[in-house]
Amino acid sequence: MSEVIDGKKFAEGLRQRIAQAVTDLSRQHRITPGLAVVLVGENPASQVYVRNKSRQTREAGMESFEFRLSADTSEHELVGLVERLNNDPKVHGILVQLPLPGHIAEEKVVNMISVEKDVDGFHVENVGKLSIGEDSLVPCTPAGCIMLLKDRLGDLSGKRAVVIGRSNIVGKPVSMLLLRHHCTVTIAHSRTRNLPEVCREADIVVAAAGVPEMVKDDWIKPGAVVIDVGINRVDSGEGKGRLVGDVDYEKVADVAGALTPVPGGVGPMTIACLLRNTLIATCRQVGVTVPDCIA
Ligand code: GUN
Repeated sequence: MSEVIDGKKFAEGLRQRIAQAVTDLSRQHRITPGLAVVLVGENPASQVYVRNKSRQTREAGMESFEFRLSADTSEHELVGLVERLNNDPKVHGILVQLPLPGHIAEEKVVNMISVEKDVDGFHVENVGKLSIGEDSLVPCTPAGCIMLLKDRLGDLSGKRAVVIGRSNIVGKPVSMLLLRHHCTVTIAHSRTRNLPEVCREADIVVAAAGVPEMVKDDWIKPGAVVIDVGINRVDSGEGKGRLVGDVDYEKVADVAGALTPVPGGVGPMTIACLLRNTLIATCRQVGVTVPDCIA
C-alpha cells in the first residue's frame, strides 16, 4: 500500500505560516496584503471557488476584495475594473476567475493585469519568465504539486517525470517547474502513443488530463510518486455525484510509493499557494524580503 500524501494537512500548515508572516508584516511595516478576486457570471463551481478563496484570504489576516459582476458585463467594463485594481495601492494581488463568459477575450483581460499583481501567474510575461527561469509569480496548482513532491522526495534532481496534460494552467507550468528542479520531463497528452509505457518509465507522474480515473495500476512503476491534479464529478449511480481524480486511486495505491487522494490532495494546495503568491507579491511591491518560512 502506498503512502497517502495529505495535501489538506500540508496546506493547513502552509496557511498558518503565511498567517504568521502576515501578522509580522503588519506589525513591522504596517502593511496588510490585499487580494482582489473578480467573478463574472454565475458559474456554480466558480462561485464555490471564489467564496473559499475570499474566506481563506481573510483567515490568513489579509484583506479580501470581492467583485461579483453580472454575466452580461462587457469586456470594456471588466478591463476598466482591472485597471482600477492595478492602480489601487491596497490591492497587491488580482485574480480574475476563469472561465469568463464567451463574449470576453480571456487572454486580453489576463494580460491587462499588472505583472506584479498577477497572483495566478497567467500573464504572458510571467509565463515567459517561468520558462526562462527568472523570478516570477508561478501558477498556484503547479506550485502546490512541486511543494508536495519536494516534501515527499527532497531533491528532485535527475528524476524522470511524466506530466499527463498540456494545459496552460497546469500541464505546461508544472513541466517548467519540474525542469527547474532538474527532472527529465516528458509532457504526454491525448495524441501521445503508448501512454502506459511512457508512464511506466516515470519516478514522478503528474496526472492533469481531466479524464476520470484514466491512470491505471499497470501504468505505474512500483514505488513511483503520483500526483493527481484531476477533479472530476462522476455519477455514483445513486443519483449523486462523486469526486474522482485522473488516477484510479484504489488500483494505483497498490503500486505507487506515494499518491495524492482526491479530494484532499492537490486541491487544498491551490488556494494556499494563491495566498503565498499574494504575500510574495506584496513583499516585492513594498520592498520587503519574502519570508523563508513560506519557501
Ligand atoms: N478557474 C479554475 N482554476 C482557476 C485558477 O487557478 N485561477 C483562475 N483565475 N481561474 C480558475
